[in-house]
Amino acid sequence: MGTDATTTAGERAGAGGGAGAVADAVRLENVTRAYRRRDVEVRALDGVTLTLSSGMATAVTGPSGSGKSTLLSLAGGLERASAGKVTVLGTDLGTLPEEALAELRRDRLGFVFQNYHLIPTLTVCENVMLPLVPRFGLTLSARVRALHSIEKVGLENRIHHLPKELSGGEQQRAALARALVMRPALILADEPTGNLDPANAAVVLDLLLGLVRADGITVLLSTHSPEVAARCARQVRLEQGRVVEATG
Ligand SMILES: Nc1ncnc2c1ncn2[C@@H]1O[C@H](COP(=O)(O)OP(=O)(O)O)[C@@H](O)[C@H]1O
Ligand SMILES: [Mg+2]
Repeated sequence: MGTDATTTAGERAGAGGGAGAVADAVRLENVTRAYRRRDVEVRALDGVTLTLSSGMATAVTGPSGSGKSTLLSLAGGLERASAGKVTVLGTDLGTLPEEALAELRRDRLGFVFQNYHLIPTLTVCENVMLPLVPRFGLTLSARVRALHSIEKVGLENRIHHLPKELSGGEQQRAALARALVMRPALILADEPTGNLDPANAAVVLDLLLGLVRADGITVLLSTHSPEVAARCARQVRLEQGRVVEATG
């Protein structure tokens, strides 16, 4: 440990950022995810080995269907590998019971999606409070925590708005506030800027990268945008379920 630059950087960020003292946030070892459709097997991921140091931003790029969303789903414990080993924040997901996996997702991971996935009938404040409810209930302290998260993304003047009353950029910032509210160690963002114009994309990316710098959070995002990818410390390119290039 600590003999190569990547590990050392990860350990520093992990120790300083308070986001969990695990040097590697995500480790995929020879991971395959296969889907069976009638007699045809599609390998969405095909023997991927990849390590993400804590406190770093990584961009996954590649054409549609190359396995980006599958990679994020596996790292987020939303689905399981068909073969190989997935370790997230020091926990081997392969042997983890479903309930513990759900707990890990809820307490330590944050998810952001291209289409925001906000609940349309709830206000910004209510959407952001939602992940807190199982643990804290609808308490004042939950509300204070949600407001703090909303302030982090600069939406404090939109707390009572419904999603449809927000711009796309604002909706994604609300979704980011919701992802942050449990103070996750790892954020998985699947094309978070895919529906945004360049100016709003830059705002959302600035927020994500700010979390990496200030809080030592690990970010794994997928993107089609070379500009977005270039701003992440590391880029991984997938083609047909395999890593064809990894830089940074
Ligand atoms: N639930 C599923 N059932 C069958 N095939 C799937 C499923 N999810 C993804 N795939 C296939 O796996 C491949 C990778 O998909 P995906 O990870 O969504 O790629 P990307 O996000 O890069 O567009 C695609 O060929 C896709 O059709
Ligand atoms: Mg996708």
